[in-house]
Amino acid sequence: MIQIAPSILSADFARLAAEVKRVEDAGADWLHIDVMDGHFVPNLTVGPALVQSLRKHVRIPFDVHLMIEAPERFVPEFVKAGADLVTIHWEATPHVHRVIQLIKSLGVRAGVALNPATSGEELAYLFDDLDVVLVMTVNPGFGGQKFIPAVVPKIRGLQRELARRSSSCLIEVDGGINSETAPIVAEAGAGILVAGAAVFAAEDPAQALHALRRAAEG
Ligand code: DX5
Ligand code: ZN
Repeated sequence: MIQIAPSILSADFARLAAEVKRVEDAGADWLHIDVMDGHFVPNLTVGPALVQSLRKHVRIPFDVHLMIEAPERFVPEFVKAGADLVTIHWEATPHVHRVIQLIKSLGVRAGVALNPATSGEELAYLFDDLDVVLVMTVNPGFGGQKFIPAVVPKIRGLQRELARRSSSCLIEVDGGINSETAPIVAEAGAGILVAGAAVFAAEDPAQALHALRRAAEG
């Protein structure tokens, strides 16, 4: 069963609660919240205050994707604000293992995200502690970018390694996911699909969500 995590990055921020409720009602499994600091990525988005405000309006779990340097500085605040899964970038701290332990110690799920140029081979020693590996299928920073097909073998490699270890860690993909790319990543082993523009920029998000699920599940 494929899970879908619409990204609020392509939502109308002035009507965020209503837009998010609409995708929740349409059957979204997670809400993907993209946090950017203007350093790790060339863009700025939202902080814990927004997560806390949204939490009151939405029941589905929050998937918080931290595209920030030294993420350990903000992990506790995002958990307190209502994050259910906190994903940090492999490239954003030399202390990935320590930050994963911090996230787990706060009682929520932990993920590591890999930029397109990061192989992920060194991740293996972390698999037992991870709930999610987030494979970026665009360079992080903006919604609505084009899917990078060269990343697909990495998804397949991670999937093989996780299966070999009988790991329950899920592969999530993020960037340029739509009805054309969803079947490619699902076939390669992705279990959670992030979709920003494909859901929030669509005229009918419910229909977009159904189309995505149908495409991914074949
Ligand atoms: C990119 C973000 C993504 C992005 C996905 O830096 O991490 O979550 O919003 O948006 P689409 O699906 O439009 O590529
Ligand atoms: Zn994201």
